[in-house]
Amino acid sequence: MRFLFLGDVVGRSGRKAVVEAIPHLRLRYDLDFVVVNGENAAGGFGITEAIHEELIDAGADVVTLGNHAFDQKETLVYIERHERLIRPLNYPKGTPGRGAGLFRARNGAEVLVINALGRVFMTELDCPFRAIDNELTACRLKVGADVVFVDFHAEATSEKQALAHFLDGRASCIVGTHTHSPTSDERVLPGGTAYMSDAGMCGDYNSVLGMDIEEPINRFLTRIPRNRFEPANGTATVCGLAVEIDDKTGLALRAKGLRLGGVLEPTEPHFWVS
Ligand SMILES: [Fe+2]
Ligand SMILES: [Fe+2]
Repeated sequence: MRFLFLGDVVGRSGRKAVVEAIPHLRLRYDLDFVVVNGENAAGGFGITEAIHEELIDAGADVVTLGNHAFDQKETLVYIERHERLIRPLNYPKGTPGRGAGLFRARNGAEVLVINALGRVFMTELDCPFRAIDNELTACRLKVGADVVFVDFHAEATSEKQALAHFLDGRASCIVGTHTHSPTSDERVLPGGTAYMSDAGMCGDYNSVLGMDIEEPINRFLTRIPRNRFEPANGTATVCGLAVEIDDKTGLALRAKGLRLGGVLEPTEPHFWVS
């Protein structure tokens, strides 16, 4: 099975690039399932219902979120209507929406998608290790789901690596999001789980994490907020992780970071290119 994940979509330039790229990538690589992190899609902060629908209409199977999940207050209401929008699993009980969902891929596989937030240098939610463990105990790879994908939205690489090894062999793929810079450590772990510490963002990299550079520099220099953070609007690079998954075992065979357009050096999953 051919699985593609795209990292945090930031603002209009990220949206435009992703909406154009998904149909092209689905065709070029004959993709079975596509997940996109949309936590920064609305002006850098959260996601509106219209933008969520735009990403799904473009060909995303599922949209995941992160610490900005509820920055747009409307999300608290509309998320209940959209089963393809997944917020972090480890929010307190009673939080609107779902932290995991089971979806059918184009090849017929049942894909369990989980989103969770890290706790190091972030607002502390429930333990993500235990929350995901519970989910995978209830819905085990090759028992409850053919494929298990985890978007672990976290700041610290140590926490991401620890979770990846904790889940190795029980998930098809675990990918980090939130830091908005792609790492070059994508690989298949010894137990068969594809892993990348951070997928990077889909946004303008001539920026500070996707935002115009002026205000972040001002805040570092003066400690006084002068303006709001605004997304940078130059051409975006689409960043993510491509994973070839064994249909029999549900484990990963190959993994490769993908970068397309904008200012980063392009990379593509060579194992899908003939
Ligand atoms: Fe983000
Ligand atoms: Fe984030």
